[in-house]
Amino acid sequence: MPFPQRRLRRLRRTPALRRLVSETHLHVDDLVAPLFVREGIDEPQPISSLPGHCQHSRESLRAEVQQLRDLGIGAVLLFGIPEHKDAEGSEAWNPDGVVQVALAELREDHGDEIVLIADLCLDEYTDHGHCGVLDATGQPDNDATLDLYAQVAIAQARAGVDIAAPSGMMDGQVAAIRAALDETSFEQTAILAYSAKYATALYGPFRDAVDVTIVGGGDRRGYQQDVANAREAAEEIREDIAEGADMVMIKPALPYLDVIARARAEFDVPIAAYHVSGEYAMVHAAAQLGWLELEPVAFEHTLAIKRAGADLICTYFARLLAERLQ
Ligand code: PBG
Repeated sequence: MPFPQRRLRRLRRTPALRRLVSETHLHVDDLVAPLFVREGIDEPQPISSLPGHCQHSRESLRAEVQQLRDLGIGAVLLFGIPEHKDAEGSEAWNPDGVVQVALAELREDHGDEIVLIADLCLDEYTDHGHCGVLDATGQPDNDATLDLYAQVAIAQARAGVDIAAPSGMMDGQVAAIRAALDETSFEQTAILAYSAKYATALYGPFRDAVDVTIVGGGDRRGYQQDVANAREAAEEIREDIAEGADMVMIKPALPYLDVIARARAEFDVPIAAYHVSGEYAMVHAAAQLGWLELEPVAFEHTLAIKRAGADLICTYFARLLAERLQ
């Protein structure tokens, strides 16, 4: 065969040819926009480590979601920052708590035209910054925390959430939440389990965004997954699906494309991936230094996550991508 080495370039010659053979397409329907709403503020507060994002007031959140919808985004993921934090994180299940109020308002604004997802965890609400209520050793008490997650799930469901997204990595959390929802007639409230959530160094900017400092400089390695492990992620996912998860999440995204690809091959539920705060902030920081271009990198990251097998992508780039996909 003469010149076989030239074969692969033929279909790359023009933009039209490249478009024809493109294997992966990013669509606005793939995007979930994470948003922060803070209790007791009148003006949105910028988050310096997450450029372009802020802690929203109730009003500015409503305006932001309207704009995202106008850009075609169909799903948002809400995080709340309460005025008062305590040892149990009780504002997380207060019917008048910040996320519950925001959910109800967004539901009023948009009816069923938008998918409302809420992070279901306690770390934004506890004064010690861990994802559950602590035992005598200073680590989250697994089963005591499950009871609290069940209460949060019910409060979010009453407020109108479509999908509760437990992110605390307690064992049995999906089963506990499913049972609580079913017992309170919220059989139709879905669960997106953050199944393979790693104890990464990439959550730093997020913790600024929700005003979380883990007590004593502690970390979450006692409950989030070890960065070294991929088979264990499959175990987590299998368990969550068996407990009733409707969708599963891998988080962060880019360092774990192998985990996403494996999950896509092994499991048939929708797979979500979370391009987290640190992944976003790194791109912005390098772009600010003039070391790389923001937009092409944002597209490359997101497309790679999709190519690996994610059906939906939670990303702080959602708005930028949606604007460019118009
Ligand atoms: C826990 C939670 C975290 C993130 C989402 N849910 C932080 C953590 O586990 O410390 C991180 C998201 C991001 O970094 O963008 N409620």
